[in-house]
Amino acid sequence: MIEKYLNKITLGDSLQILGGGVNDSSIDLIVTDPPYGDGCGYGRNGKTILNNEDESINYKIIPLLYKVLKPDKSCYLFTNWKFESKIRHFIENETNFNIRMLICIVKNNFGLGYGFRNQSEYCLVLEKGNPKYNLNDFSNVLKMQHIQHDQETHPHQKGLYLIKKIIRHSSNEGDIVLDCFSGSGTTAVACSELNRQFICIEKDEKYYKLSLDRLKNDTAQQKLFIL
Ligand SMILES: C[S@@+](CC[C@H](N)C(=O)[O-])C[C@H]1O[C@@H](n2cnc3c(N)ncnc32)[C@H](O)[C@@H]1O
Repeated sequence: MIEKYLNKITLGDSLQILGGGVNDSSIDLIVTDPPYGDGCGYGRNGKTILNNEDESINYKIIPLLYKVLKPDKSCYLFTNWKFESKIRHFIENETNFNIRMLICIVKNNFGLGYGFRNQSEYCLVLEKGNPKYNLNDFSNVLKMQHIQHDQETHPHQKGLYLIKKIIRHSSNEGDIVLDCFSGSGTTAVACSELNRQFICIEKDEKYYKLSLDRLKNDTAQQKLFIL
């Protein structure tokens, strides 16, 4: 069943697909960035993210992530300062994942305004069993490159370098990487550049189409580069 989703971005609902369409213990690495739950609009255009009204989608997806991950493999789950403690509490009490590390991601830039400006995101490293890691220079404070936003871009696009570093640390060439909230397709692009197989799922058609274009253009660039 997994072949249907392999090396493509699928337009669909990850709760349904992981609940029925992806085999248990079939994924080598999960890198995923679910809606955090803060329900806000982004930027001047007030862009929104599906299922971002509250953090409940995290509680539904995390047990499914455990189910599809192979033993002795890792899952990187992004969140923010507001929900990290609630999600950690859920993982510790309701799942079989071990929490190995909390990574603080420092964004290159932040918007000026009243009160306290947020320049960080967080990523929980979850383990099923005892995974192995590849790099010797992986800090739990990572910097994220500036993402130039316009009317079309995904408001939560992650830095490509950051995602590639995570993938290099926790997988090998040919491995299958899952991102079930793939947004603008950063994980798919990273996998294609690093010779990993991928399963990416995105429910919002607008971002699904944007990610297909991004993946196509990136792959074309890679081929030109190789030539
Ligand atoms: C925080 S964003 C991910 C951004 C991504 N990391 C990137 O670099 O572009 C979360 C994404 O999950 C999608 N989403 C929300 N509910 C979903 C569901 N049930 N199944 C699949 N995708 C979903 C949203 O449309 C949104 O694009």
